[in-house]
Amino acid sequence: MSVNPAIVSAANEKSSLKIPGHIGIIMDGNGRWAKARGLGRAEGHRAGVEAVRRTVELCISYGVECLTLFAFSSENWRRPPDEVNFLFGLLRRFVASDLARLMRQNVQVRIIGDRASLDPGLRAVIEDVEAKTAGNTGLNLIIAFNYGAKSEIVAAVKAIAAKAAAGEIDPAAIDQNTLATHLSTVGLPDPDLIVRTSGEMRLSNFLLWQSAYAELVFVEENWPDFDESVFVRALRAFTERDRRFGGIGT
Ligand code: FPP
Repeated sequence: MSVNPAIVSAANEKSSLKIPGHIGIIMDGNGRWAKARGLGRAEGHRAGVEAVRRTVELCISYGVECLTLFAFSSENWRRPPDEVNFLFGLLRRFVASDLARLMRQNVQVRIIGDRASLDPGLRAVIEDVEAKTAGNTGLNLIIAFNYGAKSEIVAAVKAIAAKAAAGEIDPAAIDQNTLATHLSTVGLPDPDLIVRTSGEMRLSNFLLWQSAYAELVFVEENWPDFDESVFVRALRAFTERDRRFGGIGT
């Protein structure tokens, strides 16, 4: 039986990679992708949803346990209302149209961010997908929507302060774990790798507490062009990092 050298080399490449347990992605550059093609920004966001589907498949295939995608930041309200509405519609349609596929893929979905200010229809859709996928045991897909890390930390501090005032928590006993367990990511491991596309190099209020020891990888491609070759390049960069968590390494 002959062996296809390309398949063997791809398998070797895959097995030589360290796979992060949790990847966070700041999906950036949809607008620039569209502009470069003479298209409207909405087309860039539509192509961005295709990249979301590809990335979920890639994470499943490479054995990543958690994927957090930054889909709408609390600062994105500054965009024109039409674009804001379009992004809300995209999330709603993604959740509705991809639910069957996410179930087949055994994906558990969690949406983090401030949902109180979302319209009740969108809230209901979000609650529905979370409830229907809650029993799935494969990839954890976390979608950060109307999310901002500073607000998340403030909300956690308020909740802890209220418990302290009610005598439920001893202020002297408050530690890092207390704060972590009051964040929207409670129960999830911290991200090991944060990827941002489109060449921008900042965190933009994404998972600030949780990313304390994440490796940061910035790639030049715009989000709609995110594919297996870019994914593997980010994993290669992660594999080559020496993670010391403040220690002196091995
Ligand atoms: C950044 O590109 C992208 C966003 C603000 C939205 C990301 C949303 C999606 C990919 C689609 C919805 C997601 C899901 C999970 C269904 P930009 O508009 O800032 O691009 P630019 O910087 O080039 O203008």
